[in-house]
Amino acid sequence: MAERETALVTGASGGIGEELARLLAANGHDLLLVARNGEKLGRLAATLAAGHGGLVEILPLDLSTPAAPERVMGFLEAKGIQPGVLVNNAGYGTFGFFAESELQAELGQIHLNVTALTHLTRQILPGMIARRRGRILNVASTAAFQPGPLMAVYFATKAYVLSFSEAIANELKGTGVTVTCLCPGPTRTGFQQRAGIEKRVEAAMMEADDVARRGYAGMLKGKRLVIPGLLNKLMAHSTRLGSRALSAKVVRGLNESLRKPGAPKPG
Ligand SMILES: NC(=O)c1ccc[n+]([C@@H]2O[C@H](COP(=O)([O-])OP(=O)(O)OC[C@H]3O[C@@H](n4cnc5c(N)ncnc54)[C@H](OP(=O)(O)O)[C@@H]3O)[C@@H](O)[C@H]2O)c1
Repeated sequence: MAERETALVTGASGGIGEELARLLAANGHDLLLVARNGEKLGRLAATLAAGHGGLVEILPLDLSTPAAPERVMGFLEAKGIQPGVLVNNAGYGTFGFFAESELQAELGQIHLNVTALTHLTRQILPGMIARRRGRILNVASTAAFQPGPLMAVYFATKAYVLSFSEAIANELKGTGVTVTCLCPGPTRTGFQQRAGIEKRVEAAMMEADDVARRGYAGMLKGKRLVIPGLLNKLMAHSTRLGSRALSAKVVRGLNESLRKPGAPKPG
């Protein structure tokens, strides 16, 4: 019987990350689940271990703090775990005009969406290369393809994730390690509420399990980029047709429509 590989999934306590964890468990992986909410992680771990028989470890941790990625590495080392799959999914966004935003929320977002993802990838990648086997799934967003007024920092972090993922995917050709960047559009999860987005366009939203399935399938095929859903693909690719200034204008219009009527503008 083939040896079971461990998948490390960040942001596994809900939404897309939880669905990815369910898929990985169902497909024979042991798991290390990381997020802040230990209770949710514990419940999911118990369900997955009972349902699929694998080993499911949890590590409740705030990955937006500078020391957190090394805590993950210490946990892996102490348990003798060398992940064969790394899913960098944890992330959040903030909504509103940048000049009025909470500085700590903006900086925490960069730490989580960019720094922790980069840190974990840099530390886990050499082992994968040495074993000539590994899969990395980085969760960006369709936000990666253009500037995003009213979510300026979030869109910028996701542009980083896409660019970084595509660059290292190229560097890793022929090593046995693949990097897939999953770029979902609006998805029904806890994301909108945490971001403080006041309205949702229900018809445009995909379900988290559907997004996760497409990302997982793309990762197994070693695809460089997965944009789930036709509308999201069209939106992402349409940004090539006009200028970045025009794209910013379009996003501003879309994001303005997600605010309550009469919400104040800066200045
Ligand atoms: N939903 C969308 O419309 C959408 C669209 C495009 C891309 N995405 C991306 O998809 C990924 C998953 O988001 P989601 O939609 O599934 O949202 P979600 O339901 O809010 O899930 C986010 C996950 O990240 C974890 N997380 C948040 N802050 C964390 C921190 N400081 N430290 C550790 N874990 C943290 C959360 O767990 P705890 O709260 O327990 O920490 C949760 O497990 C994110 O990278 C997001 O940017 C979402």
